[in-house]
Amino acid sequence: MNGGLSLESIFIIGTAGMIILAMGVVFFLIIYQRRLVEKENQLALQELAHQRSLMDAVIRTREMEQRRIALELHDDVGSTLTAIKFSIPLLDVPREKQDKLLDNLQSAIHKVRRISNDLLPSVLEELGLRIAAKSLMQTLGESTGVVFYEHTEGDSRPPRDIELAFYRVLQELLNNIIKYAQASFAEVYLLIDSQQVIMTVTDDGTGFTPADHIIREDNPSLGLRNMESRVQQINGSIVFKKLPEKGTSVTVTWKTTDQK
Ligand SMILES: Nc1ncnc2c1ncn2[C@@H]1O[C@H](COP(=O)(O)OP(=O)(O)OP(=O)(O)O)[C@@H](O)[C@H]1O
Ligand SMILES: [Mg+2]
Repeated sequence: MNGGLSLESIFIIGTAGMIILAMGVVFFLIIYQRRLVEKENQLALQELAHQRSLMDAVIRTREMEQRRIALELHDDVGSTLTAIKFSIPLLDVPREKQDKLLDNLQSAIHKVRRISNDLLPSVLEELGLRIAAKSLMQTLGESTGVVFYEHTEGDSRPPRDIELAFYRVLQELLNNIIKYAQASFAEVYLLIDSQQVIMTVTDDGTGFTPADHIIREDNPSLGLRNMESRVQQINGSIVFKKLPEKGTSVTVTWKTTDQK
């Protein structure tokens, strides 16, 4: 025993110190890396939330603007046209000309009513999703070659924003079927009860899922994106399925149990 540390002890202490130091550095790096990943995830979530709220605001603003235009069209343009219609018989022109004028005016009144109803479906507000969906299919069936079938179950009315979201999605799905699917029929199944709304739209067309759609800069289509945003906004889900034989089936679901 000579009081000082032996060379061996110094070596052991030195090595242990270095190991502890190395472990500390590794530990620090792991924590740092984890914090970095957490921060990145947080930023990505914030970005997603920001994008969603932007999209929500766009949809809400558009809905308000559509409402304003629809009311103006209906109350202002519509009633002016109707007033003109009643003054035609007072005109000092031959009967045939009056009839022709009345025909044209009647068709203009009809178009104004259709456009204003497209923008703000009054049937939806007054009579609910079930009747509005039926009426939409009837109108589209009369003006296109596609045959529409509908099956509905349940007669309760979900909250207004849920009805509106489902109605807008249905409008877009049916318009896309008419424009692109080359379908001969489309079938809409709608289940509405106090706990849920489930809508399935099936067609016998070419078959489609959003993955088939390539977003092109020269054709910035909005339909699919809007449908997804609307469904997200109400905390629902939308699933596209290409059917094995032909055609597409799209199911939109909203459940009260999924709401926070
Ligand atoms: N039911 C369908 N059958 C076949 N192709 C479809 C169907 N629905 C959509 N598509 C394809 O997906 C593309 C994107 O649809 P989307 O609704 O986003 O755009 P759009 O209808 O062309 O334009 P917008 O809806 O903005 O007026 C369409 O251009 C079409 O090629
Ligand atoms: Mg579309």
